[in-house]
Amino acid sequence: MRILVINGPNLNMLGRREAKHYGTDTLPSIEQALTEKARALDCELVFFQSNHEGALIDFIQEKALQADGILINPGALTHYGYSLHDALVDAGLPVVEVHLSDIHTREEWRKISVISDIVIKQISGLKAQSYLLGLEALVEHIRGKKEK
Ligand code: DQA
Repeated sequence: MRILVINGPNLNMLGRREAKHYGTDTLPSIEQALTEKARALDCELVFFQSNHEGALIDFIQEKALQADGILINPGALTHYGYSLHDALVDAGLPVVEVHLSDIHTREEWRKISVISDIVIKQISGLKAQSYLLGLEALVEHIRGKKEK
């Protein structure tokens, strides 16, 4: 099983962003923790981060055919990334949306996720743990579907 782990704008800056919202983990340390979790779950991860919506879409279009699911933190694109939304729909894969901060208790504009209608689960506010729980839920969903 292969999972695409996608991070949007500014997530390459983790560790240097507002710690009260995003914690102190860096993106490489989160990816390392995910790699360990993936070993236990017996799945393969393909990581990608970009500050550009088009690059995220190119990656999804290129890799979706050889993947089983998508774990994504779209950063601020969460709130207005309609072309990212459409690329995720076109990928036809189960998607889990994760956020380090709790987007529901911050500014009004952050409470809206334009991809929430197409994801199987959203996990928000658990800092790096959001990614680990998100990966678990995604793998469980894919395995459950395959067994049916
Ligand atoms: C974020 C929340 C977004 O509102 C913000 O723009 C981010 C990170 C999170 O992980 O909490 O860049 O997706």
